[in-house]
Amino acid sequence: MDGKIIDGKEISRQIKEEVKQEVEQLKAEGCTPGLAVILVGNDPASASYVGSKERTVQALGMHSEVIRMDEATSEAKLLGEIRRLNDDPAIHGILVQLPLPDQIDEQRIISEIAPEKDVDGFHPVNAGKLMAGLPGFVPCTPLGIMVMLERSGVVLEGKHAVVVGRSNIVGKPMSMLLLQKNATVTVCHSRTADLPSITKQADILVAAVGREGMIGGEHVKEGAVVIDVGINRGTDGKLHGDVDFDAVLPIASKITPVPGGVGPMTIAMLMANTLESARNACR
Ligand code: GUN
Repeated sequence: MDGKIIDGKEISRQIKEEVKQEVEQLKAEGCTPGLAVILVGNDPASASYVGSKERTVQALGMHSEVIRMDEATSEAKLLGEIRRLNDDPAIHGILVQLPLPDQIDEQRIISEIAPEKDVDGFHPVNAGKLMAGLPGFVPCTPLGIMVMLERSGVVLEGKHAVVVGRSNIVGKPMSMLLLQKNATVTVCHSRTADLPSITKQADILVAAVGREGMIGGEHVKEGAVVIDVGINRGTDGKLHGDVDFDAVLPIASKITPVPGGVGPMTIAMLMANTLESARNACR
């Protein structure tokens, strides 16, 4: 079993340690990386994610600003806050925690963030740069998966990678990143016919659908590398992935657990993106 389970917690710890050291260097040059996080409303899960981002930013020696806004906040007020942060030289990264309340147009908000401060990589300019193979910010979850694969010694060139899920945040950018590394990429989704016949061909299988345990043993080829992006709160109150871990574990050559797999990588890459943004601004 040794080495079969990819330890996202440990890899994220290493990334954060590396970021922390580079933050110290940058600070010695008179530049403190700063991240601003905007939270609108009282969703407990979002509040918990934001709290964890704030603590991590501070632990790595960066400047943290968290803006908490009322559930009933208008789109205009939120746009004003983003414009203020766009113009603030102490802030290198701006993250608006999603989802937003119904009265606010998410795309409108994301598009207002200065692309050079868009450490989430959600702005259309950054999405376009990824598609074109140009440098820009890449969404943290797929970026974290690429780092996990690399640090686990998984070769991508010439391999068949199957991504299940086509979201702008995970599935689409994931497929672009795998393609950049010369994998042959197939993207599946909720309307895909005969999903198991396709996922069974995968050397690398990325499950990002948001449905607990939907990838079972019948979906996986012997020896495949299985990456589970799902974070589903089960009826037992615990977190479960999109992959039926116990069923797939004996079949896969490597697999990420939930929790302790992809999740911790996302926040580590947010820190790395914020550092990169500060470097771009200060050097
Ligand atoms: N909500 C859930 N995940 C994310 C994320 O990665 N970024 C933002 N901004 N909101 C989220």
